[in-house]
Amino acid sequence: MGGFKNIHDFKKSKDQKTPISIITCYDYSFARIIEDVDMDAILVGDSLGMVVAGHSSTLPVTMEQMVYHATIVRRGAPTKFIITDLPFMSYHVSIEETLRNCGRIMKEAGSNAVKLEGGRDFRQTVEALVRASIPVMGHLGLTPQSVHKLGGYSVQGKDEVQRKMIMEDALILEEAGVFSLVLEMVPEPLAKEISERLSIPTIGIGAGRYTDGQVLVINDMLGLDPGFNPKFLKKYADLHGAVREALAAYDGEVKSRAFPQEKNTFK
Ligand code: KIV
Repeated sequence: MGGFKNIHDFKKSKDQKTPISIITCYDYSFARIIEDVDMDAILVGDSLGMVVAGHSSTLPVTMEQMVYHATIVRRGAPTKFIITDLPFMSYHVSIEETLRNCGRIMKEAGSNAVKLEGGRDFRQTVEALVRASIPVMGHLGLTPQSVHKLGGYSVQGKDEVQRKMIMEDALILEEAGVFSLVLEMVPEPLAKEISERLSIPTIGIGAGRYTDGQVLVINDMLGLDPGFNPKFLKKYADLHGAVREALAAYDGEVKSRAFPQEKNTFK
């Protein structure tokens, strides 16, 4: 099915005012489904540390884990544009180490781009990656890798100082060469203003209606966790309910010997 082929498709969509759809993915089975639907791009997010591995933050996620998940997602979605998150501390130590880590994501995992969190502090990092022909997606607003600095997973950019800081960071990242920018959990008017001022597309999650595209975590939008109900989330399915029902039906049929039937047996 359809989907972006390269970073120029992101810009084209912005210029043509066609909203961009991105979904996270972490495994082969879901990647195969996404490969067959109209989704513009896949993000192998470090949110996998929370929704797949059950950690309370994304901080424990390693480079090895990102390369592993990005590789299996590529196997299931051979034609999709894949952006892979750089995990916490994989792009903070030195530009040399960052380049090596990103090289792994591009060469071993076959991703098309990387994403990193943060603004002005990462200007030179973004410039170095772009010089090395590695497309970079930025990420501002709520940056989950900074949860301990931010003090929680709350809306960012609510006061004037923060608002100005995020706006400036967005302009700095654009100038440094990012091809698009995730805005997470920021007030709608700020996301709108940034989207209007930048010539690269903004991708929102909890950033309202006026970003150039949207991204959601697949486990969340499929309703796998009935206890996770943030305001910004729309659940497009109740997989938690469906999976529970299927498991209960299987358990019941094993116990009543309704499964397996003759058609499930080998002669
Ligand atoms: O890790 C992730 O899934 C993300 C999205 C929430 C944007 O960064």
